[in-house]
Amino acid sequence: MPLPKAELHLHIEGTLEPELAFELAARNGVRLPYADTEELRKAYLFDDLQSFLDLYYSLMAVLRTEEDFEALAEAYLARAAAQGVRHAEIFFDPQAHTARGVPIGTVVEGLGRALDRAESRHGVTTRLILCFLRDKSAESALETLEAARPHLHRIVGVGLDSAEVGHPPAKFREVYAMADSLGLRKVAHAGEEGPPSYITEALDVLGVERVDHGLRALEDPELVARLVRDRVPLTLCPLSNVRLRAVSSLSAHPLRRMMEAGLMCTVNSDDPAYFGGYAGDNFDAVGAALSLSSEELRGLARNSFLAAFLGEGERGRYL
Ligand code: HPA
Ligand code: ZN
Repeated sequence: MPLPKAELHLHIEGTLEPELAFELAARNGVRLPYADTEELRKAYLFDDLQSFLDLYYSLMAVLRTEEDFEALAEAYLARAAAQGVRHAEIFFDPQAHTARGVPIGTVVEGLGRALDRAESRHGVTTRLILCFLRDKSAESALETLEAARPHLHRIVGVGLDSAEVGHPPAKFREVYAMADSLGLRKVAHAGEEGPPSYITEALDVLGVERVDHGLRALEDPELVARLVRDRVPLTLCPLSNVRLRAVSSLSAHPLRRMMEAGLMCTVNSDDPAYFGGYAGDNFDAVGAALSLSSEELRGLARNSFLAAFLGEGERGRYL
């Protein structure tokens, strides 16, 4: 039985496996610049975040209809459930779709079809988190939140992702204030490739409740002390960090140091189709590389439920 866990850092577009990409491409008459799934998988050699993002956005061309988004979420939920995920807070990138002419309603309602039956079919409760692309403008983020308004009953919060360096959190002050006034929860990617000051800014200016990645916090002892004191959850993604070269190897991953510093760490998969593993694979791989005990692994899983956007009654089911 895999360890029960919540997944809090998962981009649904990053769960697009080559097999499904080819299936959807055929269904929608989209030509992919790869002969087959094997050739596509060979393209998964990244130098950094940007080289990954280039492929990630280009493959999204196959996602066009509600049925496509439903199939994408259904495939993720089945795999996640098999690896012990009992609750999933799922990021999606509406601007990557609206820019291609796919309406936000198609994305949200398509994903929603699979999420609506996730508990009965897979035993997984779910939430959706709308992410703004930080390399697009602040105006585009505001328009996106406005376009999402008819679908807010399906959305628990907002996040910030895509190319980090040069796009500091403060750029999105206004849209986060708007999200807050709409009762949405707030998270942001910070300190994956960007400096520790981006983490501080995400806390101070955007008011985020969790930090996605947050790896580079370790460079700023005062920030570490603050994150420990305030028990700010970090959603770490070990296999992603190796593939995007944020760390040189799994055995060099700072997870153990972060746990020993008293940080509230969780383990997640980020973009599992691209980075070599789902949530359970991340637990297994980093656990083995850092010789984490079963008690330490259980502590990480417990943190994931504590950090989840669950109601207190609901949380009790998992702890
Ligand atoms: N970082 C930033 N943006 C992203 C990522 C990531 O790991 N995955 C998908 N969008
Ligand atoms: Zn991410």
